[in-house]
Amino acid sequence: LPVEPQGQATSMGGVRYGKPEKASLTLVVPTRNESGNVERLVREIREALSGIDYRVVFVDDSTDETPGIIRSLSEEDGRVVLMHREGAERSGGLSTAVTAGLDAVAASSEYTCVMDADLQHPPRKVREMLEEARESDADVVVASRYTEGGDYEGLSGPVRKAVSVGSKYLAQVVFKEARKTTDPMTGFFLVRNAAISGIQFRPTGFKILLEILVCAPELKVVEVPFSFRTRNAGVSKASMKQGLEYLSHITSLFWYVPSAGRFWKFALVGASGVLVNTFVLLLLAEYFDAHKVIAWMFAVGLSILSNFLLNNAFTWSDVRHSSRIHFLLRGALAYPVAIVGIGANFAVYYPLLKYVSDAFPYYVLFNFLGIVAATSVNFILSSRLVFKP
Ligand code: GDD
Ligand code: MN
Repeated sequence: LPVEPQGQATSMGGVRYGKPEKASLTLVVPTRNESGNVERLVREIREALSGIDYRVVFVDDSTDETPGIIRSLSEEDGRVVLMHREGAERSGGLSTAVTAGLDAVAASSEYTCVMDADLQHPPRKVREMLEEARESDADVVVASRYTEGGDYEGLSGPVRKAVSVGSKYLAQVVFKEARKTTDPMTGFFLVRNAAISGIQFRPTGFKILLEILVCAPELKVVEVPFSFRTRNAGVSKASMKQGLEYLSHITSLFWYVPSAGRFWKFALVGASGVLVNTFVLLLLAEYFDAHKVIAWMFAVGLSILSNFLLNNAFTWSDVRHSSRIHFLLRGALAYPVAIVGIGANFAVYYPLLKYVSDAFPYYVLFNFLGIVAATSVNFILSSRLVFKP
């Protein structure tokens, strides 16, 4: 047990090992200057979770009297635990607070629920989330503001609402895992600890639920609606800086998680193939004065080769190692698809070249139209045959 379950408040540095039995639920609550909220939060949790074996771990980065209040709450109630952070750890902010909390409690309870301290996340919901996790045998229960029955009235002002909805759609466009829930950016969710035990959280991981969903694509996710009320006391710590951190989080997930955003990796490789193709065509036709059909053949051949190598190294860098047979089957299917694509390309390129013009810049444009035709055919066939789940 990395966190002492009974008794005195403990700091991160002085974590001691407690009793071996597992609590069923740990609440991880990040706090920064929430002195007006923690007492009421603890009281509401106590009322809402009677009969459930739970603990509340505050991961606190406050500079006000919040840690003192939490300390005295933990003296009254052994289920309240303080992890107070100072210095470099504290400047890690909200993201590392949540992951430090998850890491510290994972081994000592069955489920962890992450929630805010300002009562925008109603403690009454937690029981329902736990029951839902058990009933549906889910790995993650998301408390959603955006599903039927939920609302986000508590988001202050139209700008904050628009940013929230926009960033949610951005995540869902880039990562298909974010489409498993209507609210991938919520700070209110419950996880089965065993299901996320292998995940190595990165310090750039800003929205922890999104990090979990993308890093562990197989998780079973369900959701319950909730109403995001206005903050009880104190002020929001959301800022422009957090918005930028969110964008860098999306970028780092895309580049460092092999399975993340595969469709867009495929599209990026495709775009690079267009550049390779056009470059080879121009080089051979203009510089070496090659026949335009010969130039086209080399352009197509080399761009297919570069696409194949890049998709292998980048788009499916993980698949190669996890299942060779799957990969070979995929490859075997991809070839007839590629041949049909080349046919479509040539069927567009050649008549235009022959009957319209084979002069610069027309043949370059016709070549591009051929690529568009090939890509469309490739995409339609691939999504029906090659990448069908
Ligand atoms: N430990 C720690 N360190 N906690 C922090 C920090 C920090 O640097 N910054 C904020 N918190 C705590 C707050 O004390 C609060 O309990 C919780 O994190 C949420 O912070 P708020 O300042 O209340 O954020 P919000 O209400 O504007 O944003 C909420 O909604 C977002 C979605 O719109 C949060 O739930 C976000 O996680 C959520 O993505
Ligand atoms: Mn808040």
